[in-house]
Amino acid sequence: MDFSTIKTSLDNHIFIITINRPNKLNALNQTVLNELNEAMALAYTDANIKAVIITGAGEKAFVAGADIAEFVSVKDDEGESLSKKGQDIFFKIENCPKPVIAAVNGFALGGGCELAMACHFRLASTNAKFGQPEVNLGLIPGYGGTQRLTMLIGKGKAMELMMTGNMIGAEDAKTFGLVNYVESAENLIPKTKEILKIILTKSPVAIAKIIASVNFYFNKEGFNEEAKLFGEAFLTEDKKEGTAAFLEKRKPVFKGN
Ligand code: COA
Repeated sequence: MDFSTIKTSLDNHIFIITINRPNKLNALNQTVLNELNEAMALAYTDANIKAVIITGAGEKAFVAGADIAEFVSVKDDEGESLSKKGQDIFFKIENCPKPVIAAVNGFALGGGCELAMACHFRLASTNAKFGQPEVNLGLIPGYGGTQRLTMLIGKGKAMELMMTGNMIGAEDAKTFGLVNYVESAENLIPKTKEILKIILTKSPVAIAKIIASVNFYFNKEGFNEEAKLFGEAFLTEDKKEGTAAFLEKRKPVFKGN
């Protein structure tokens, strides 16, 4: 398969998807999302693929969020559908019957943190940083972050991270339960493969049923509410100011409308 914004490889039945826009810190534009969707469709159907690792190209970022530059060209009333599209692709990752692990090798912010959280579990390199900084843009997480972060680290910590937009490092992410292991950058993929090697000795039928059963716990209504509220935030002047400020490399001044 030919992709322009992701790279894929197959190693001992482990399909590695690498988000590949290092100059933009692997930000998720529509092409990345579409290609990720296609790569995941392949993971569902190709019998040679028994597990998936999702990671980012370069040494700095896993994924630094949705592509903020692209937000400017999205119509004001398309926020909800933008959110739903991202949510649907991330559901495809979450509901994949084969294990999907995030190897977080740097910034995992906004949609990047949400992508990592849609995976079945996460490993991080020592330089990884996690956060949901949408509030700095006058927005809210829109790719499932309000739901999955709360589920993974608990309501209080999730509220604080989303309201402050602050980042946390890999060790804090491990303490909070957001990642299972912290590894050196060199050891991140080898350790992820080591864990998958154990999983791949088990019954794939049982693994698929564990994934389906654990995911059943999620309340899908919460995701619909998130998309609706993201759509409302997308209509505000604060969102215009927040995204313009990021692109102009200045601090936003929010007026609350
Ligand atoms: N969308 C679009 N472009 C992005 C991006 C994003 N989410 N994150 C980073 N980039 C781009 C920058 O605009 C910059 O492009 P340029 O070189 O053409 O100006 C390039 O990636 C490198 O980023 P830069 O900001 O210069 O790196 P830094 O080391 O100074 O800062 C971050 C790193 C992650 C702190 C900073 O890029 C950032 O805050 N990114 C946005 C995070 C965010 O809000 N994500 C949620 C989006 S909903």
